[in-house]
Amino acid sequence: MTYLLALDQGTTSSRAIAFDAQGRIAALAQREFTQHFPSPGQVEHDADEIWQTQLAVARECVQKLGSADADMAAIAPNIAAIGITNQRETTVLWSRETGRPVAPAIVWQDRRTTARCEALSPAERQLIQSRTGLVPDAYFSATKLQWLLDNVPGARRRAEAGELAFGTVDSWLAWNLTGGAKGGGLHVTDASNASRTMLMNLHTLQWDDELLALFGIPRAVLPRIVPSSGEIGATAPDLLGAPIRIAGIAGDQQAATFGHGCLAPGMAKNTYGTGCFMLMNTGGQPAASRNNLLGTVGWLAPDTENHPAGQPRAAYCLEGSVFMAGATVQWLRDGLQIIRTAAEVEELAASVPDTGDVFLVPAFAGLGAPDWDGRARGALIGMTRGTTRAHIARAALEAIALQSADVFAAMSEDAGLPLQELRVDGGASRNNLLMQMQADALGVPVVRPHAAEITALGAARLAGLAAGFRFDEQALAASQSAARRFEPQWPDSLRRQRLARWREAIARAKDWARG
Ligand code: G3P
Repeated sequence: MTYLLALDQGTTSSRAIAFDAQGRIAALAQREFTQHFPSPGQVEHDADEIWQTQLAVARECVQKLGSADADMAAIAPNIAAIGITNQRETTVLWSRETGRPVAPAIVWQDRRTTARCEALSPAERQLIQSRTGLVPDAYFSATKLQWLLDNVPGARRRAEAGELAFGTVDSWLAWNLTGGAKGGGLHVTDASNASRTMLMNLHTLQWDDELLALFGIPRAVLPRIVPSSGEIGATAPDLLGAPIRIAGIAGDQQAATFGHGCLAPGMAKNTYGTGCFMLMNTGGQPAASRNNLLGTVGWLAPDTENHPAGQPRAAYCLEGSVFMAGATVQWLRDGLQIIRTAAEVEELAASVPDTGDVFLVPAFAGLGAPDWDGRARGALIGMTRGTTRAHIARAALEAIALQSADVFAAMSEDAGLPLQELRVDGGASRNNLLMQMQADALGVPVVRPHAAEITALGAARLAGLAAGFRFDEQALAASQSAARRFEPQWPDSLRRQRLARWREAIARAKDWARG
């Protein structure tokens, strides 16, 4: 038996998943890690903890593939390749000499650089948008890295002298997996992750000198951009029992798009994780959005149908990023404490027929697509004496669906054709009530595939492509086919009315954290 091992480093947990040639999960291990909120609007991770949890689950997963007493050295040769997939944009800065981070990682949700983004001139905004496809925002890595260089004592000088390395989480993991400061340590990132830094030219897939100058980033600190599928390196022998080749890297949302098989232009998926990320394949050229969506690299990989062994080609996507999805349910659990487990939200929300005209705008980290308002804050509006925690739970689920409906409308407009259906995955996609709300809010069917762990499957497939791992395509197609279709039930008039009311609620949450 041979396997592919996906390392899926997400915002709240590190996971490792081994797939067999049928695309079935052969082993899985997962560990949550600490979220740090040093002050309002700031979110940090300990990069060492990210690495330690990721290594631990990789080892656990390898171990699970063998019999209880088999050592990893005996199992590792059965792993054809590793694919890395990761929370994107989160910014790590470390010493090349010691391999230690010089500061906490600044997480994609962190808003500390909002003012920096607001200070960009219209001409600079235009430059950024045309070069990177991104709507300038604190979400992306560029201003986070600039902040670290400006605020960590000595960092700028050390970066200019080539002593420090910057990377998104893929880069940090690849460096550590390949030996890090003990020698070997490869400093790379793939094109999909690089396209989220606001420093890469989307057309040339190279770092852009004008953008580096704009954000004061020395070239010496940057990783080399590599394909999402290709020979990247091998793990250091002591980590997983024997060297295993690393043959794939992609941002988690791009990997999920690949994992869903959205390989043709016009195909779209939505992943319900911490946030909610809708991506539509737009083909071999970057597409400009007229509706505040992001142009992004899907993957840089051999074209499976036309050029299986040829030069890697870029597939581009349009993306609508919603910052709060599953995190809204976590807030009901940890912040408001009206549920004990995230799974309870479905039953509680289903205990009332509607929200009683209550809306929750979960702009806890500002608003992403299509509003892009870093100063928006959460709002709960429309409550009466009759409002209960059930209405609030239902409003939270509805907010996840309505945010995605806004993105879907923008995407349909950009695509110039109404999208016919939406493929879904991610933790909250298991919530049937939410998926029904989503179909109702979109007015088109929502399709949930059989296969779980689509993001990891996408990373494994990218690695498998480069490693010559042959999947049983029929079995894969079956696992990607619909396990359940949710048909829209709201009449059009109700849908329009709910969406209009939602837009009103959004308007009230906007620009709240002024000054
Ligand atoms: O852009 C942020 C995204 O990659 C985070 O994904 O699954 O960790 O919420 P997730």
